[in-house]
Amino acid sequence: MSKRTIIPFRAKVIEPLKLPSLEQRNKKISAAGLNVFQLDAEDVYIDLLTDSGTGAISAMQLARSMNGDESYAGSRSFRAMERQVMETMGFRYTIPVHQGRAAEQVLNFVMIKKNQIVPGNSHFDTTKAHIEFSGGRAIDCTIDAGRRSEGDHPFKGNIDIEKTEAVIREYGARHVAYILVTITCNSGGGQPVSMQNLRDVRALANKYGLPVVYDAARFAENAYFIKTREEEFADTPIPYIVREMFKHADACTMSSKKDALVPIGGFIGIRESEELYERVKTPTILFEGFYTYGGMSGSAMEALAQGLKEVVDLDYLTYRIGQVRRLGELLDSFGVPIVHPIGGHAVFIDARRFFPNVPQDQFPAQLLCVELYKEGGIRCVEVGSCLIGRDPDTGENIRPAMDLCRITIPRRAYTFEHLEYVADVVRTVYEEKGSSQRRGLCFDVEAPGIRHFSSTFRYV
Ligand code: F0G
Repeated sequence: MSKRTIIPFRAKVIEPLKLPSLEQRNKKISAAGLNVFQLDAEDVYIDLLTDSGTGAISAMQLARSMNGDESYAGSRSFRAMERQVMETMGFRYTIPVHQGRAAEQVLNFVMIKKNQIVPGNSHFDTTKAHIEFSGGRAIDCTIDAGRRSEGDHPFKGNIDIEKTEAVIREYGARHVAYILVTITCNSGGGQPVSMQNLRDVRALANKYGLPVVYDAARFAENAYFIKTREEEFADTPIPYIVREMFKHADACTMSSKKDALVPIGGFIGIRESEELYERVKTPTILFEGFYTYGGMSGSAMEALAQGLKEVVDLDYLTYRIGQVRRLGELLDSFGVPIVHPIGGHAVFIDARRFFPNVPQDQFPAQLLCVELYKEGGIRCVEVGSCLIGRDPDTGENIRPAMDLCRITIPRRAYTFEHLEYVADVVRTVYEEKGSSQRRGLCFDVEAPGIRHFSSTFRYV
C-alpha cells in the first residue's frame, strides 16, 4: 500500500514563528507558575494547546466572509448558515451562538430541571460544568474499554448501553433530562462513537421517551472513523454518513471552532421540534443576541457555512486524521506510551506510564507539559487530575482513570516537519527523564472551580 500523504491544499499566507532560548523558556515557565495556560503565545514556538479555533481558514472562507451581511435580524449570512446546517446535518432549526459552551448554556437552561441527570460519554469539562450549573448532574457511561490507554477497540467513545439503562432505571426516566453523545469523545482521547452505538442509544432513548443530544464539535472526524472502521460504511460518502449519524439525534450543540473550521462560532441545531426551538429563543436573546446571529457576525456565519462544506471532504479528512496518526506512530516507534487507537484531533500521552516513578497525585501530565515546553518551546495541555477537579459533593480530588498530556493538532496549520520536531522533543524528555524523574508537582495556588486555567504549581 502506498504511504504517500496527499495534502489537499498549499500555503498562501504564513505567520512567523520563533523558538525562545532555553534561558527564556525556563524564565517564562517559572513566571507562569508552571502552568502553560499562563504563558503568552509569543513565548511558544509550536502551540498544541488546542485544536479549537486555531486552524487555518481557506481562501474561499475568507472570500465569503468579505461578503457577510451584518443585518441585525434575518441576515442573508444567517440564512446561508441555516441552509448549510440543514444540508450537512439535516436540522430544521439553527440557532447561532458565539461558541460551543454558549450552546451548552442555552440548551441546558431549557432542557434540565433541578436534580435531573444527563448520562453520556465522558462529558467535556465545560459541558459537565454547564449541566451542573443548570442544577443537573453528568453521569459518565462510557464503555470500560474507553477508560484504558491500552487496547485497540475501534470505537472507544461508545456509550455503554447496559450501564446507561441501569442508570435510567435507578434514577427513573423522568429524572433524566436527555442522553448526551460526544462525537468524537474529546476527554476520552479523541475516540469515535460507532454508527451502531448511535443507533443503540436512539433505541434506548425511544424506549424511555428521552431526547438525544450530540456534542457535535468533531462530527466530521467521527464520520471518517465510521467510514474506515465500520464495514457497513466503507463505500458510503462522508456527507451521507454524517446525515445518517444526525438522524438519531434530536438536537446538537456545536463548537464551530473545531469541525466548522472557523476561529470562533457555534450553534444549536434542532432536528424538528418547533416546541424546543421556541423555548430556546428567549435565553439565546438574553445570553447571546437575537436568535439569527447569537453573538456571531455575518462574516463569521459565512465562513462557518463554508467550513461545514469543506470539512466533509474525504481528501481533507484523510489528510487530517492521517497527520495525527503519523505523529502517534512516530511516538510509538520511540516507545513513548500513548493512548491507542490514536484519536482524531490529538495524540494523548499516558503520563502515568511516561513518568512511572512520579506519584499519581503529583500531576504527572501537568509535569510533562512543563517539561515539553522547557525542552522545545511546545505547548501541550493536561487532560487529567488537575482538569477534572474535585467532587462537588465531597470536595475530594477526583482521580481520573487516566492522566493524559494532549498534543492537540490545529487543522491545516502545521506541516509534518513541525510535528517531527515535536516528536523529537517528546523523545528527548522521555529518554532523559521518563524513568528517572521521581518528583512531580503540587499546587502553589489552587484556583477555585475550573482550576486548570489559573492554578499555579511548584515542584514537590
Ligand atoms: N465540547 C467538546 C467536545 C469540546 O472539545 C469543547 C471545547 C466544547 C464542547 C466547548 O466548545 O470551546 O467552543 O466553547 N474544547 C476545546 C479543547 C476548548 O481544547 O478541547 P467551545
